[in-house]
Amino acid sequence: MCQNGFFEPLIERISRRIKQESGTKKQRIRILDAGCGEGSLLSGIREKVSPHTANGLLSVGVDISKEGILAASKAYSDSIWCVADLAKCPFANQQFDFILNTLSPSNYSEFNRMLANDGTVIKVIPEKNYLKEVREVFYGHTPRREYSNEGTVKHFADHFDLLDMEHVRYRVALDRALIGHLVRMTPLSWGATEERLQKMLDMDSAKITVELTILIGKTFA
Ligand SMILES: C[S@@+](CC[C@H](N)C(=O)[O-])C[C@H]1O[C@@H](n2cnc3c(N)ncnc32)[C@H](O)[C@@H]1O
Repeated sequence: MCQNGFFEPLIERISRRIKQESGTKKQRIRILDAGCGEGSLLSGIREKVSPHTANGLLSVGVDISKEGILAASKAYSDSIWCVADLAKCPFANQQFDFILNTLSPSNYSEFNRMLANDGTVIKVIPEKNYLKEVREVFYGHTPRREYSNEGTVKHFADHFDLLDMEHVRYRVALDRALIGHLVRMTPLSWGATEERLQKMLDMDSAKITVELTILIGKTFA
């Protein structure tokens, strides 16, 4: 899914933000992707930001999944990949100018510890229409359809100075093979009945909504 451009507009927006925030910074830019999965997001961002840096870019991905980190390290040799729990990251204090955290759990005391002075946390959370077409097929008949991220935003704002919230919404056209990948990718399928899973897998094409919010925060002064 990731390699087929599913998150391309998101990668574009995050990269733009990092370039803006970095401004005329002379030192090397250091980015940690916390909960990096199979690494394509960090690698995509690196590709877009790197040419605009004066002194290079250090990108580090960390994930608790050995399979994810193995896939990342095989596919992208330009970053450091590391298996670790976000609750106990193996990095010294104040090492990163940016901490990315996309659709993954967080550990804000660790993020605060690892952020450099004036560093930025970029957290991506789903909005209520994220994968709404999948939700409708799987759970159209139950109250599980509705989703709210209010608590997540408040929790973030309790730990960081919330500077900005960027809304991203687009639709992706998928063919039958990609629908199969999406069904296997999303935890939404874990609670769906066999019959509803099959209904989705039998579709020849679908347009799927990706709706996300990017939270931008800094450590409190
Ligand atoms: C939905 S995936 C998102 C992956 C990637 N950021 C993306 O957007 O494609 C969530 C990731 O969080 C990782 N994760 C969950 N708990 C974690 C923890 N305690 N420490 C590190 N990673 C964790 C999972 O292994 C998984 O790769």
